[in-house]
Parts: sequence; structure tokens; C-alpha cells
Amino acid sequence: MNHIFRRMLCSSLTSAQRSAAPLLSAAARNSSFWSGVEMGPPDAILGVSEAFKRDSNPKKINLGVGAYRDDAGQPFVLPSVHKAEMKIMSAGLNKEYAPIGGEADFCTASAKLALGEDSTVVRDGLNVTIQGISGTGSLRVGTAFLSKWFPGNKTVYLPKPSWGNHTPIVKHAGMEVGGYRYYDAGTCGLDFAGAVEDIKKIPEGSIIMLHACAHNPTGVDPTAEQWKELSEVVKAKKLLPFFDMAYQGFASGDVDKDAFAVRQFIADGHMILLSQSYSKNMGLYGERTGAFTVVCKDKDEAARVESPIKIIVRPLYSNPPRHGARIVTQILNTPELRSEWLVDVKTMADRIITMRTQLKDGLTKEGSSLNWQHITDQIGMFCFTGMKPDQVERITKEFSIYLTKDGRISMAGISSSNVGYLAHAMHTVTK
Ligand code: LMR
Repeated sequence: MNHIFRRMLCSSLTSAQRSAAPLLSAAARNSSFWSGVEMGPPDAILGVSEAFKRDSNPKKINLGVGAYRDDAGQPFVLPSVHKAEMKIMSAGLNKEYAPIGGEADFCTASAKLALGEDSTVVRDGLNVTIQGISGTGSLRVGTAFLSKWFPGNKTVYLPKPSWGNHTPIVKHAGMEVGGYRYYDAGTCGLDFAGAVEDIKKIPEGSIIMLHACAHNPTGVDPTAEQWKELSEVVKAKKLLPFFDMAYQGFASGDVDKDAFAVRQFIADGHMILLSQSYSKNMGLYGERTGAFTVVCKDKDEAARVESPIKIIVRPLYSNPPRHGARIVTQILNTPELRSEWLVDVKTMADRIITMRTQLKDGLTKEGSSLNWQHITDQIGMFCFTGMKPDQVERITKEFSIYLTKDGRISMAGISSSNVGYLAHAMHTVTK
């Protein structure tokens, strides 16, 4: 019997009938469609969580994925999010499909959060904003749009280094990946001169990816003055700036301060693209809630740009999930909830800042003679420790401390009860 037909038949049998059926012969198995499928590497970030789960050491710490934990090391549901959910539940809403681009209220509130409450772009209807499947989904729609419609050089220039998912996202859209210097391993800070020099060499009319704040993985951001200078260089080269803003509020604890770069570029006349995520600043990780915005020249252009974006979304996932978007809308559009949320964001950012100080102090107490100043200089969810791959391997093997191979640690996974153990381990592998 043809083995495919036989499989179809088997799948329609009950489990008792199936277990009684003779096994497929080896010859039939060898003719599988999938014999050429190759095993890929585990994901550089999410694969770390998988390895962490397999470890039975009670002292294990997961500093891989950027997901906020409270000081007891537990996932954190923001009190403002909890209250918004209660309101949504009591409203007894139905589960009808959302529009392809998401609800208008959500999109407007998201655009205003990023561009400013008094944004003239939003007031004049120059933005196309759709709900995205968090940051990744927004970037995917954005790059798919660029791949089809960007008239310039279809290469996206990323900072070196950049978030590990940026390169595959750009490549999946069929575009090329370029890079510009960003991080200085010598100072564990920004290589501003190198960045400017490299950006000036990017071919005119290309796309440049910028991390709006709390750069991932380095935790190194340009100052306000440096952003202004970058804006001029990007403008002189006629580059299209695509901002990835996954951490609004997480860098400084202030959502407006963290939106500085985005708003400065718009004030300088850039027609930016923007991806937003509510994973970190509202803790909506698994709700996959974000937004994608294109700033256009006028209303007519905005209407035209919205059309192909919807045409991209429809066969991809049809329309976005509702629950996370309802939470965001409820929070941003209810003054008391919004104020409470801003306090929640600050609470998370402040706890991370405290952990930075405690980790640096802990290393000093351990007797480390290395300069760990960058731990407190860097901001946002991550610290680019400077640990080398062999040190990362050792700290994982000997101390069950999990982090990405590039030496990045998620500060949010550190708590007052494990910071001492971490400092001791970091000192042991780096001395
Ligand atoms: C991270 O960098 O750890 C986060 O942005 C989570 C992710 O999806 O990679």
C-alpha cells in the first residue's frame, strides 16, 4: 500500500486501531518527503531558555531572554494591566474579528504614545499605523512593505551588533543586510565616531535601522546631542530611518524621554518607519501586541500606503489578536490607568537600575580588579558584560547561569537574592 495513503488511513483510525496496525516498513519510511530536512541550530536567545529549563541546579539563573522578573524572580503582571483586564472582562466584549490593521483606537493611542500626545503627524493624519504581532510581527510587515515598495537600495543597515532577530527578519523579506559600527568593545560604550563615519558611507537612498532606546543587546544609547547629529547625517544621505522601539519607558522609566530620538527625527523632517512592542513596557509578552507605523507626506499618500500594508497582512495572519490590544487601549485611554501604568513602568526600570548598582558593587566586593563601570553606564533591559564566549560557556557549565553567547545578560533576571551568586560567578570566570 502506498505509504502516504496508508498514513492518511492511519490518521483516521482510533488510537486502539492504530496501535494494532502493523508498523510502516523501513523502505516506506525512507521514501519520506522530509528525509532532506536538516536540523537547524537552536535560537540564539530563546534556545537559552530551553537549555535553562533542562538544568536541575536549584541555583540556576536565566539571564538569556529579555523578560522582566520581579525581585522574587517571578514573571510580573503589571497591576495596571490586571485592572485593565478586569474592566475588559466586565464589559463582556465579543470575540469578533478585528479589522485587518487592528482597531483604530488602539492604532491612534499607539501612534500618540510614540510620536507624542500633541504630534502634528497624528493630528494631520500623516501616519499609517496598524496593530502588529508585537515587535517582530511589526518588523516583518514593515520589511515586507519595504521589499515590495521601497524605491531605493533594498539593503537595511543594522547597528553592529543588533538584536539577533533583525538579520533573519530582513532576509526573510528578501532584502540585503548591511551594517554600521555602533559598539566599542574597548570602552563598552558607543563608537559614535565610527557610527557617523560608516553611516556617511552608506549608499544614498538605503534603509537604516535604529534602536529608539535601550539598544539591544548592548544597553548603549546615543545622547540627545548625538541623536541630533545622527539625524543630520541620515538626512544628508537620504536614508530611510526604520526605528525599532521595543523598550519605550524601559531605558529611563519615562516614556516621553525614551521617545526622544523618534520625535527628534520627525521634527527634523524624516519620514520614518516605526515598530513598537508592548511586550516589555506593559509586560504583554505572550499577548503579542505591538504596532507598525509609516509616516507619510500627506493624507493621500497615507491612504495609498495603508492599502498594500493591509494586503500584506491579510494572507499572513488575516487580522491581529484582540486581547492585548484591548488592554493597551484601555490603559492608554483611561487617565487613571495610564497614570498607574507610568508608575509600573518606572518601578520596573528602577528595579533594573538598582540591580545594575548591586551587581557592580558585588563584583567589587568579590575583589574584581576589572572595570565594571559599563554595568551602570548602560541602560535598559540588557548589559553587554564583555564576557568572552569561553567565559560564558564556563559560567553556564560551572554555575548554571544562562546567557547569550555574546556576553549579554538580561538585567531583569537578576534579583536581590541571586545578585551575590552572579557577582561571584562572574568574578570567578573573568579573573
Ligand atoms: C530579547 O532580545 O531577549 C527579547 O527581545 C526577546 C526576543 O524575542 O528575542
